[in-house]
Amino acid sequence: MSDEGHVLDVLLTENRRFPPPEGFCDGCVVYDPAVYSAAEADPEAYWAGWAEKLDWFEKWHTVLEWTPPHAKWFLGGKLNVAYNCLDRHLVGPRRNKAALIWEGEPGDTRTFTYWDLHREVSKFANVLKGLGVKKGDRVAIYLPMIPEAAISMLACARIGAPHSVVFGGFSPESLADRINDAEAKVLITADGGYRKGSIVPLKANADEAVKTCDCIEHVVVVARGAGLTQEVAADMAEGRDHWYHDLMAGASAKCDPEVMDSEDLLYILYTSGTTGKPKGVVHTTGGYLTQVYATTKSVFDLREEDVYWCTADVGWVTGHSYIVYGPLANGATVLMYEGAPNYPDWGRFWQLCEKYGVTIFYTAPTAIRAFMRVGEEWPNKSDLSKLRLLGTVGEPINPEAWMWYREVIGKERCPIVDTWWQTETGAIMITPLPAVTETKPGSATKPFPGIAATLLDDDGNETSAGYLAITKPWPSMIRTIYGDDERYRETYWSKWDGIYFPGDGAKRDEDGYLWILGRVDDVLNVAGHRIGTMEVESALVDHPAVVEAAVVGKKHDIKGESIAAFVTLKQGMDGTDDLVAELKEHVTKKIGAIARPDVIMYAAELPKTRSGKIMRRLLKDVAEGKALGDTTTLADPAVVQKLQAQYEEEEG
Ligand code: WTA
Repeated sequence: MSDEGHVLDVLLTENRRFPPPEGFCDGCVVYDPAVYSAAEADPEAYWAGWAEKLDWFEKWHTVLEWTPPHAKWFLGGKLNVAYNCLDRHLVGPRRNKAALIWEGEPGDTRTFTYWDLHREVSKFANVLKGLGVKKGDRVAIYLPMIPEAAISMLACARIGAPHSVVFGGFSPESLADRINDAEAKVLITADGGYRKGSIVPLKANADEAVKTCDCIEHVVVVARGAGLTQEVAADMAEGRDHWYHDLMAGASAKCDPEVMDSEDLLYILYTSGTTGKPKGVVHTTGGYLTQVYATTKSVFDLREEDVYWCTADVGWVTGHSYIVYGPLANGATVLMYEGAPNYPDWGRFWQLCEKYGVTIFYTAPTAIRAFMRVGEEWPNKSDLSKLRLLGTVGEPINPEAWMWYREVIGKERCPIVDTWWQTETGAIMITPLPAVTETKPGSATKPFPGIAATLLDDDGNETSAGYLAITKPWPSMIRTIYGDDERYRETYWSKWDGIYFPGDGAKRDEDGYLWILGRVDDVLNVAGHRIGTMEVESALVDHPAVVEAAVVGKKHDIKGESIAAFVTLKQGMDGTDDLVAELKEHVTKKIGAIARPDVIMYAAELPKTRSGKIMRRLLKDVAEGKALGDTTTLADPAVVQKLQAQYEEEEG
């Protein structure tokens, strides 16, 4: 088993399969499987075909220039992203179609037609110009999930000022680091934003951050946080701080879009990974828009009448590509919701689906597992009959969570698209096509047409279980790390020659389907067996009492590592010693004795990043009785501290 070049063992078999539901193919966007072979035969022609569906001021002369690790797409082409998301929809019947339907956490709502949104974006673009923002200047955005977030992004795109959106849950220090790294000139924030019934004091955080940011010349403040507005008004720094509504009141709604080169910077988005200084992922214009446009349309089977809801925050890449740029470039109706899924109770998401007739719903496994935990009575209170397609992104989805999503939310009627991609890839890379692909619970299935993905070992040889690798450039790929091209080469391109290394492990089954097994850094090494976290966790989640699990390797004298598992139970279940024994047995039966956890601990909650990914590195510290490593990327550091105390008490 520990032979040369061996990267991962394969333990889990999953035999359930689901063909596209009957009738789904009528009128669908992509129904012909020949798209795969055509795209493979000539990927550049395939992507150029999609690029042609965008509006260009000047057409490109060359599709791709590839000097590894740097790619340029659609060279010589000129376009504007905001023009493609707004202006081009104003000439036909989409003019007065809802572009953005927004609901705040307290229940207030606002709707913008394409025409409305165009007007707001043009006005705010003029406001930014008035503050001295020119093409190429960076603008930082630190906002709650309110329409002004999308308006700000599009206004930046309109004038060619790259934005750097910083998630509203980040601390002043994290915000300051990101502002300084990008040398942003203007910061757009709000007095506050609603989260679980309270108000996050964004302006106060921003003030704290800006103290250490000499580059910031102006701060624009959206009045959102009701109770905080008065307080913030008293604290506006003369000359530096401006209310959004004051600036907008005098702004003209006519603003010609800047003519951008296909390779001009569209945005920087910082990704923290698990350690180290955050990386400013750079995305450019033409290739990015082409791939987010193509994937939104094909993967979500987006049609004119759909109501599309992606529950991510605009502070993450999912929000950039699949709330703002992909859907709006397609002329879709997008639902945007400000608050928490469980405010005022666990029925909120499903009420929103019913109220707005959501047809396409895209969320993360962490949310699905949270809903599984509290039970199906919540979704069952709402009419979900308009839903016709479900998507997931962000982590491997355990087959049982996938089945729950299919049965309880999709009522066995909706295809599920499990989409694998990264901040760095910019757009969806591995995914089913809903009318073409037979799905299997837990598999992201196949590379999107035009994407070349495979599995390699350390030496770059093909394997059926190993490192996921992207072997050809793709349009929406990261161009560099802002200000640090060396780190770009080192992080993504140094493992093999001219091949992109995403850092995930995966296996390929007999039908050629890909199964993402988790981050390579998290792989367990038990007596020479290299085991991905996903399979052991899925075996645990397969037990009816368990909704979420995280496994880590714990140093072991003989085996190298033994497995420690942290499990969250369904609400109302008791964490007994008998159940621990039963769970160990369950894993042994399901995937084999080698994966049997030595220790199982009940966790009321697992430590997660702000975007909802389980942080296994810290659980390893807990299991090995070490001092906790860096906890600054956690959504709630108290969760892991609690587990540590509990672990010491129970395991000694
Ligand atoms: C993980 C989010 C399994 C993976 C768009 C990847 C997934 C990282 C999936 C990127 C999926 C994302 N199945 N794992 N469908 N989607 N991941 O940058 O480890 O926040 O490398 O981008 O999330 O996370 P990021």
